[in-house]
Amino acid sequence: MGEVRVRASVVGLGYVGLVSAACLAEWGHEVVGIDADEGRLAALDEGQLPFFEPGLAELVAGVRSARRLRFAGPSPAAIGSAQVVFVAVGTHDGNGGWQTGSIRRSLAEIVPHMADDSTLVIRSTLPPDFIQSLPWLVSALRRKAGRREIPVLTNPEFTREGSAIRDYMEPDRIVMGIGFDPHGRGESMLRKIYRRASAPILVMHAADAALTKIGANLFLATKISFANELAQLCETYGADVDRVVAGMAYDPRIGPSFLRAGVGFGGSCLPHQVSMTVREASAVGLSVPLLAAVEEVNTRQRETFVERLWRASGARSGARIALLGLTFKPDTDDLREAPSLDIARALIERDAVVVAYDPMPRARVTAAATVAGLAVVDSATMALVDADAAGLVTEWREFALLDWEALGRLMRRRVVVDGRNALSPEAMRAAGFAYSAFGREGTLIAVDVGQPAGPAPLAELAEDGPVLRPALAFDAEAADTLRDVSVAASMFDREASSA
Ligand code: UDX
Repeated sequence: MGEVRVRASVVGLGYVGLVSAACLAEWGHEVVGIDADEGRLAALDEGQLPFFEPGLAELVAGVRSARRLRFAGPSPAAIGSAQVVFVAVGTHDGNGGWQTGSIRRSLAEIVPHMADDSTLVIRSTLPPDFIQSLPWLVSALRRKAGRREIPVLTNPEFTREGSAIRDYMEPDRIVMGIGFDPHGRGESMLRKIYRRASAPILVMHAADAALTKIGANLFLATKISFANELAQLCETYGADVDRVVAGMAYDPRIGPSFLRAGVGFGGSCLPHQVSMTVREASAVGLSVPLLAAVEEVNTRQRETFVERLWRASGARSGARIALLGLTFKPDTDDLREAPSLDIARALIERDAVVVAYDPMPRARVTAAATVAGLAVVDSATMALVDADAAGLVTEWREFALLDWEALGRLMRRRVVVDGRNALSPEAMRAAGFAYSAFGREGTLIAVDVGQPAGPAPLAELAEDGPVLRPALAFDAEAADTLRDVSVAASMFDREASSA
């Protein structure tokens, strides 16, 4: 395949923009990453990324030293020399809604300076009605500047945090949304850009592309809430959701992915797009009961986890609770809409002492600054010392690899509530733990007060909500609990590393 180099500028160096800029440069294009934040540009010039994404720092360093990626402010020169300009600025209002102020400002700044033979490509996720108005907006800016019309396309991204580089370089599909492209020049430019990606290219109207992106995320969120509702049914009937999902997944119409039960979905995309869709639908008088339920189930998962963890800790003021994991999922330092933040707040409101650990230092600092009263520590061991219960919120691999048997000796009570179904129930029980999770066999089972542990008929649960208690009897004393508080976490670390 012959070399096809395109001069591309990427405006907005957040998660979407920086990954795009680095990957385009890796494909051989000449890329300028543009951002208005001078502090961010200075840090990037020194090789410091504004967030963690596996492999991205190395990729950025490589393409910069090959001189295929450089960073700049939004100057007319940086814009005017590009054959294609991607816009990847933020579109969240920070409150579950859209904001289009940033993209409007950005377009007003860059569109007048774009070359007459260049193409504008919007990569940010935006509401379909704004996408539909985009060609007019751009055309007005061009006319005002006395310049020719340019093609306007959208190119939604489907990359996940934690695997963004692979998702970008080896996409499942590439969606090109046509806003204004009378001669096909924009489409052929985008095809050049993606020449090295071997994925189906779908060309559609820009409104279709916007809904393809949002629809994909809404469906993924629906799958997760479905799995969480299924987990509840499994608990009620004494079944195991992991085995049930494995059994269902053999049907190719269902498949195994995004059916992991737990504390629910977080992150910058899924929660925002569900709540925004529900909100906008109600504003235009549209009924979307399925999506409203997806949101409700997701909120309920966090509340259920808090309730279980609180009870597991002894439900008393001053109970010490260890939270393992803060980020909304592993392999990122992103705390946006992370379930951990709501969970920590709710436990602190009940007067628990909440001590959290996450492998990402930046997430620890941000969480401590965001949640009043939250203590963060530098290791899982330190979080677990003297804990009345531990709650696993993010399934970082290191938590599954902990020596739980040894750590149990440092806790006041060996109790763990697994919010991601990530630990082995057998291993945890063998280590002396009362273990509970979501929809797993032997987990907290809904029972009537005073009844022997066991599944209760659904009708009985409907009245006042289920009362939860561990199916496995937990004997605090026999569980080798109250321990000498002088055993410092550092001592344990030394013992563990010399073992
Ligand atoms: C998502 C989409 O997957 C991606 O295609 C889009 O481009 C951006 O939004 P991301 O937000 O990075 O990606 O995370 P994702 O992997 O989708 O996970 C979202 C949340 O769902 C996480 O909190 C995760 O823990 C949770 N989740 C995921 C579950 O609770 N259960 C599952 O089975 C899968």
